[in-house]
Amino acid sequence: MGTVETAKGEETAAGEGGKRDALTIKDERTGRVYEVPIVHGTVRATDLRQIKTGPEDFGLMTYDPAFLNTASCTSRITYIDGEKGILRYRGYPIEVLAEKCNYMEVAYLLLYGELPNKKQYDDWCHAITYHTMIHESLKKVMDAFNYDAHPMGMLIATVAAMSTFYPEAREVHDRAVRTKQIHRLIAKMPTVAAFAYKHSMGMPYMYPSNDLDYTANFLTMLFKTPAENYKPNPTLVRALDVLFILHADHEQNCGTNAMRGIGSAHTDPYSAVAGAAAALYGPLHGGANEEVLKMLEGIGSKDRVPAFIKEVKEGKGEKRLMGFGHRVYKNFDPRAKIIKRMAEEVFEVTGRNPLLDIALELERIALQDEYFVKRKLYPNVDFYSGLIYEAIGIPTAAFTVLFAIPRTSGWLAQWEELLEDPEEKIARPRQVYLGEGERPFPPMEKR
Ligand code: ACO
Repeated sequence: MGTVETAKGEETAAGEGGKRDALTIKDERTGRVYEVPIVHGTVRATDLRQIKTGPEDFGLMTYDPAFLNTASCTSRITYIDGEKGILRYRGYPIEVLAEKCNYMEVAYLLLYGELPNKKQYDDWCHAITYHTMIHESLKKVMDAFNYDAHPMGMLIATVAAMSTFYPEAREVHDRAVRTKQIHRLIAKMPTVAAFAYKHSMGMPYMYPSNDLDYTANFLTMLFKTPAENYKPNPTLVRALDVLFILHADHEQNCGTNAMRGIGSAHTDPYSAVAGAAAALYGPLHGGANEEVLKMLEGIGSKDRVPAFIKEVKEGKGEKRLMGFGHRVYKNFDPRAKIIKRMAEEVFEVTGRNPLLDIALELERIALQDEYFVKRKLYPNVDFYSGLIYEAIGIPTAAFTVLFAIPRTSGWLAQWEELLEDPEEKIARPRQVYLGEGERPFPPMEKR
C-alpha cells in the first residue's frame, strides 16, 4: 500500500502496526490516499479539508442537511440510545429519576453534574424560590399583548425582554454572573408562564408564594384567583413534577441546538433561551403536544381512528400522526412509557379524559400497521403529555409553555457546558453554493 497523509499532514506507512483507530480514504479524483483519526466513533470534518484536487481547491466538506449524522459538540449531560430506548441524565436512567427525584433535584443534577446533598438542595431551592418574582415593568410588558396572544409568543417575547432588565447578563464569561441568571431564568419561567395564562383569561396575575415548592407554586399561580383560595392536589403536583423531569433535557435537539448556536455568539442567556423557546414552539418539536390534542379532538371518536390512520398513510408524509415518530428514538421513547402510566393516576383524580380512548386506539392500530412499523414510528413524549395537561385544566395553547419551563434547566446546562468547552467557537456552518456564478449587472431598463 502507498504512503498516506495523516490528518496532521505527516507521512506514515499505511497498513503497518495492525489495527488503528483511523479511517483510510482514497480520493479517486487524484489517486491520493489519506488517513484521518477516529476518536469516539467520529472523524473530524475539518480533517477532510486536506483532501483537495489542487492548491485552488477549498478542500472536501461534509454535506449533512438537518444534522442527520453530525455531532456538533461533545457533552457529558444527557445520553440517549435511540435504538434501545435509553435516556439518562448524567448517567442516571430517566425511569429512576422520575421515580425517586423531584424536578429541583434533577435541574441541579443537569447543571452541576451530581445530585445535590441536603445542604446543596436546600441552598438551591432557596436560591430559586427567592428569584421567582418578576419586575413590575416586565408585568407591564406582558399587559401589552392582545387578549388572544398565543402563550408561547408571550413567553418568548417576555423572556427576550428580560435581557433588558439584567444587562450584566452579557458578561457570559463571569461564572458568578452566569449562576445568577440561571437562578433567575429557572425561577421566573413559571411566573411568566402563569402570567401569560392569566392574561389570556383576562384574570389578574397571581404572585408566587415562597412557602410552596416549585411545581405547587406554579399550579397555584395558574389556578388561584383573588376571590378564592387554591390548594393544588398532591397527585397533580407530583404528575406535573414528573413531566418536568421528563422534559428537562434531551441532548442536541432543535431547541438546544438553537440555544448552543445563539450562545456561541456570547449572547446573553435570556436572548438565547428566547431563541431556543422559539425553536421549541414549532409543531414538529415541542409544539407537537398541542397538535396531538387538536388531532384527537379532530378525530372525535374511537370508531373514526382507522379512517384517520388511512388518511395519514395516503397523505405520504403530508399529514402526520402527531406525537408519533422521533429523529433519535427508533424503538420507543422511554418518556412516553412513563407518561402513559402516569396518565392513569392523574385520571383517577380528575376523571377519565375521553380523548384517552381515542389515543389508545390510535396507538394500538398504529403499532400493528406496516406503515408505522416499517418506519419505526412509536409514540413520543408529546403523545400522552397533552392529555395530562388537559386533565389538570391547562388550555391546549399553553401546552408548549409547560414544556419550555423545565427545558430551561437543560438549555442552561448545555449553555454552561458550551461556555466552559475549550473547543467552543461561534457556530457557523458551511454551505454548498449552487446559485449563479458571477454575471454582468443588468440596468433597470434591461431587466
Ligand atoms: N406520522 C406519519 N408518518 C411519519 C411520521 C408521523 N408522525 N413521522 C415520520 N413519518 C414518516 C415520514 O413521512 C417518512 O416516510 P417516508 O420514508 O415514506 O418518506 C418517515 O416516516 C421518516 O420521517 P422523517 O420525517 O424523515 O423523520 P425525521 O427524523 O426527520 O422526523 C419527526 C422526526 C419530526 C419527529 C417526525 O417523526 C414527525 O413529524 N412527527 C410528528 C411530530 C411530532 O410528534 N413531533 C414531536 C417530536 S418529540 C419532540 O420534539 C419533543
